[in-house]
Amino acid sequence: MLLLLRKEDQVSSSGGKNIDYDKLITQFGCQTVDKSLLDRVQRLTGRPLPVFLRRGVFFAHRDFNKILDIYERGEKFFLYTGRGPSSESLHLGHLVPFMLTKYLQDAFDVPLVIQLSDDEKYLRDKNLSMEECERLGRENAKDIIACGFDGVSLTRTDPENKIRTLALCSAFYKNISRFSKRVTRNKADSIFGFTGEDNMRKQSYPAVQAVASFSNTFPRQFLGDDHLHCLIPCAIDQDPYFRMTRDVAPRIGYRKPALIESSFFPALQGEHRKMSASDPNSAIYFTDSAKVIKNKINQYAFSGGQESLQQHRKLGANLDVDIPVKYLNFFLEDDAELEHIKRNMARDIC
Ligand code: TYM
Repeated sequence: MLLLLRKEDQVSSSGGKNIDYDKLITQFGCQTVDKSLLDRVQRLTGRPLPVFLRRGVFFAHRDFNKILDIYERGEKFFLYTGRGPSSESLHLGHLVPFMLTKYLQDAFDVPLVIQLSDDEKYLRDKNLSMEECERLGRENAKDIIACGFDGVSLTRTDPENKIRTLALCSAFYKNISRFSKRVTRNKADSIFGFTGEDNMRKQSYPAVQAVASFSNTFPRQFLGDDHLHCLIPCAIDQDPYFRMTRDVAPRIGYRKPALIESSFFPALQGEHRKMSASDPNSAIYFTDSAKVIKNKINQYAFSGGQESLQQHRKLGANLDVDIPVKYLNFFLEDDAELEHIKRNMARDIC
């Protein structure tokens, strides 16, 4: 299902260790989002930088600078991002790429494609029926629309009437075929770790995610703009799909999509794990009530508190591991207030 709104070698952690984010830059050819790039974004858009860019949450990119060149020359591009609907609602980690996408859509005034990969989740999870995945996709679309893309208002309209779903049209199917022909089984296995036990269609899904970054996959929506540049905001777990896409694109005469990639919003249990929809205790969902969120934080959020009250009074909290502070770092806009909270916690006078 696609939601169209106008306008492994994985980087992972094991054994409780923190996620190795540098690997994306040192081994997988991403570039660092540095100050000069951010200054350029601010200059070109004439807007203050959003918190995710200011605080280094989006730390890696592929050719984002080229997208800025395109914009500066007055040429067009489009945004593409997505969600694999595996739970009733999105969690706070999913909000990270969607909030950056919202900022980028407002700042650059460009069209946006959102892929709801209900097929991906159906193929991956043997306990989910196709109908259930479609239902989850529709539920998740409400959360996505609530992010406020291009003035779509959840309060004003029934979200289901605002969604234009696109079946696999023939242009889409042709691009999947063009793309898949250039990726061998060995190559796909080495990127995604498929084994002989994986079903056939699961092994072909990555092409579906890849070709939504080519504008001629959507001939009716992009009306003749067959080779628009594409920018994809996402977290680093999606990088393997688009490394593959960038490898194949020039071989079929298409443009490589650009990416801007974030670190993970951590699980309640600590920074060594990402917040994940498949583990309800690790996650705070959009649909959780204030009471449920409070209980989850009190019960599960890893604290930087010291081992004894005495130690804590002496040393204050260890903010390097404290999950509530990490969460504020993602979402609290006010830099001065964040610093104030951190100073007080470090001195134990909260
Ligand atoms: P999914 O549903 O796992 O995740 C949706 C988006 O949220 C990001 N994400 C996170 N970001 C920060 N912290 C976290 N803890 C966290 N967990 C997930 C993901 O990187 C993603 O951007 N295969 C995709 C669906 C998809 C897609 C795309 C994603 C289809 N086309 C194009 C990005 C771009 C998936 O299952 O995402």
